[in-house]
Amino acid sequence: MLRYHVTTFGCQMNAHDSERIRGMLEELGLGEAPELEQADVMVFNTCTIREKAESRLAAHLALAKTIKDADPGRLLAVGGCFAEVQRERLFEQFPQVDFAFGPGSIATLGEWLAVERNGGASGSFGTGAQRRFAAELPGRRERAFQAWVQISMGCNSVCSYCIVPTVRGKEMSRAPGEVLAEVESLAVEGVREITLLGQNVNSYGRDLTAVERTTFAELLRACNRVEGIERIRFTSPHPKDFRGDVIAAMAECDSVCEHAHLPAQSGSSRILRAMRRTYDRGRFLALVAEMRAAIPDLAITTDLIVGFPGETDEDFAQTLSLVEEAGFDAAYTFVYSPRYDTEAASLPGQVPEDVKRERIERLIELVQATANERNERRVGGVEQVLVEGRSRTDDSLLRGRTRRNTTVNFTGRSEPGELVAVEIEGATSTTLRGREI
Ligand code: 5AD
Ligand code: SF4
Repeated sequence: MLRYHVTTFGCQMNAHDSERIRGMLEELGLGEAPELEQADVMVFNTCTIREKAESRLAAHLALAKTIKDADPGRLLAVGGCFAEVQRERLFEQFPQVDFAFGPGSIATLGEWLAVERNGGASGSFGTGAQRRFAAELPGRRERAFQAWVQISMGCNSVCSYCIVPTVRGKEMSRAPGEVLAEVESLAVEGVREITLLGQNVNSYGRDLTAVERTTFAELLRACNRVEGIERIRFTSPHPKDFRGDVIAAMAECDSVCEHAHLPAQSGSSRILRAMRRTYDRGRFLALVAEMRAAIPDLAITTDLIVGFPGETDEDFAQTLSLVEEAGFDAAYTFVYSPRYDTEAASLPGQVPEDVKRERIERLIELVQATANERNERRVGGVEQVLVEGRSRTDDSLLRGRTRRNTTVNFTGRSEPGELVAVEIEGATSTTLRGREI
């Protein structure tokens, strides 16, 4: 039996796409190899959001080349966002690659493999007749009780730093009937937690035909009615599209978790304008206040970029103060990285690397202090935890996540997939510690 190995970079959308790549390859009769070294078909699902993602990929592809040089029968395929951005140029940069495909044409990998195994051509880029939802392909999930559900692809925003719209194209919503049918069949299979995925989940449905027209709030309510699904998460929403109807749905639907990942990007209205985020600091904070008023106990996490072109000390100070004012429970922090053909890459006032470094260090310190303080408040309380497995650092402990999406390491006897009550006894900036009761 031929064996495959998939290495994934990037966001949850890519992780979901990789599940479909696995499912498709298994349907073709391939089995999974635990290590790259053992794989006949080596697949890399790539990311291009920041330069760092690409330098990491280059190192992996160098290893794949060594493996191929020793055994030329092996096949190397590169999919995902970096492949899409590079297209045919990828083969000049990495001649060891046999096949490349973008995120909208995952199915072409299977089609190519079917031919290649009968002596097909190498060095080609897979172009599907049309973009297809990865969700249409068979999937192979990591855990039986958790699943991602793709609700849209692409993005219609024009954030000046971001390459995603170029790579993943215009936003296309999946038909609500298809989304619900998938959620229902997942529930039947025993899935208890779903995460609805889209580049901008709360603009969902705007492109649907009049008969199918469904808003994101309606979709949340429909998923909430599915028996067996006990936790509903979603990522990522754009603050500009986060309206009252979605807040109400979050507040009223028992299964929708008390967590919103709300990417702020900056705390400075001037920088937000240059980023083309279409909200300012005031509107962002008003949204946070509205959400907190409607959803008691809500956790809010965010993404922040430092060193966007033109960012002054004063702008950066505004980002620091946003962290405190909004009270983020966690934040992913990024150093601005200029991307091909994005508007911001050619803006004047690019910030020197040492300034970016110094800013991100200060930001991380504040984010940790804020998160730590917010986690400390949970100590003494009881949280509902979905058990995921053993603790990553201490095998004698179990690990799971609260509805607010905080990782908890705890003592107990439950099995993965169970929902248990855990008394919280301690906290760090990223995790809680406790005891199953
Ligand atoms: N440089 C740095 N960070 C970026 N992000 C998107 N594009 C860039 C870029 N060019 C960050 C944003 C986004 C997250 C997924 O990655 O914060 O929300
Ligand atoms: Fe995900 Fe963006 Fe990276 Fe593509 S470029 S994998 S959409 S984070």
